Amino acid sequence: MQQKEAAEVEIIKLLKAAGSCFISGQSISNGLGISRTAIWKHIKNLREMGYSIEASPSKGYRLADIATAHFNEIEVSYNLSTEFVGRKIYFYHEIDSTNIKAFELGRSATPEGTVIIADTQAKGKGRIGRRWESPAGVNLYTSIILRPDIPPQSAHNLTFVSAVAVAEAISLYSPIRPVVKWPNDILLDSKKVAGILMEMDSEIDRVHFVVAGIGVNLNMTEAMLPDFLRPIATSVCEKKGGAVNRAEFAGCLYASIEKWYKIYLNQGFTPVLEEWKRYFGSEGKRVRVVSFTNTFEGICMGVDSDGALLVKNSKGVVERVISGDVETLR
Ligand code: BTN
Repeated sequence: MQQKEAAEVEIIKLLKAAGSCFISGQSISNGLGISRTAIWKHIKNLREMGYSIEASPSKGYRLADIATAHFNEIEVSYNLSTEFVGRKIYFYHEIDSTNIKAFELGRSATPEGTVIIADTQAKGKGRIGRRWESPAGVNLYTSIILRPDIPPQSAHNLTFVSAVAVAEAISLYSPIRPVVKWPNDILLDSKKVAGILMEMDSEIDRVHFVVAGIGVNLNMTEAMLPDFLRPIATSVCEKKGGAVNRAEFAGCLYASIEKWYKIYLNQGFTPVLEEWKRYFGSEGKRVRVVSFTNTFEGICMGVDSDGALLVKNSKGVVERVISGDVETLR
């Protein structure tokens, strides 16, 4: 891996801005303050990454495949509008799990907002020990390292921050409004389109870091889904009817994460929870709760001010659910 040199990002920016025109080596050199030999070395690296860059001794350089949707750290950087989320990117073509890597990096001094992205994961992790299907070339698998100064009991709030951010990013691409299934599955047309795995490293009274692991099915077609997932999973492209540019989507997602994380840090949990409720789809509906301790059905009464799910059971008692899986029944 995989921390691309800033100069390579800047060269791609200049080449993209020039469109189908050539840009001289001298103007790149002047713009970036590096030698023409250094530029040549970076161009070579960019070609090795798959960019098709034409070189002409008299005219300079031109991006010949400007319409190609490359997916790498340069493209993600190109689409960033954030202050700190995504400003340090670790990009992998293949990895076991971006959350595992995030944990390794979190224990080092890597800054808040560092993101890990993979094109495919060999051991993508889902909630409750499940596996997350992570085929190559189609979806987004990313983990974001956050270092909030909050007690561990409040880390659960970040589950809601992430859910709101993912739902917001998806809503920019999908003709259908995403729905959140408590606490943080994102659905389109009642099928899961994105999952979030929050993990934390902490002491009893102090959070060291939180990892928000996010998988979004972007361009996976129904045919690509394993049989057992076909009835319950979908992707953004299935609803949108066209491919989603993964790097562009990552840029939107990181912007939303940063926005809602800042709102949470500056204004507290209430505005995050209010926004989350706007996406929540189970209130007033019959649900089945499978928690660590029991399984029961009841009517969902919403969530309380901590984000715990409130479910009225068959005896009319409202139970407070703080962890587990919740299915909305028809
Ligand atoms: C769920 O079960 O709904 C949570 C799925 C989370 C999957 C993402 S993909 C990126 C990150 N790395 C992982 O191994 N898991 C999360």
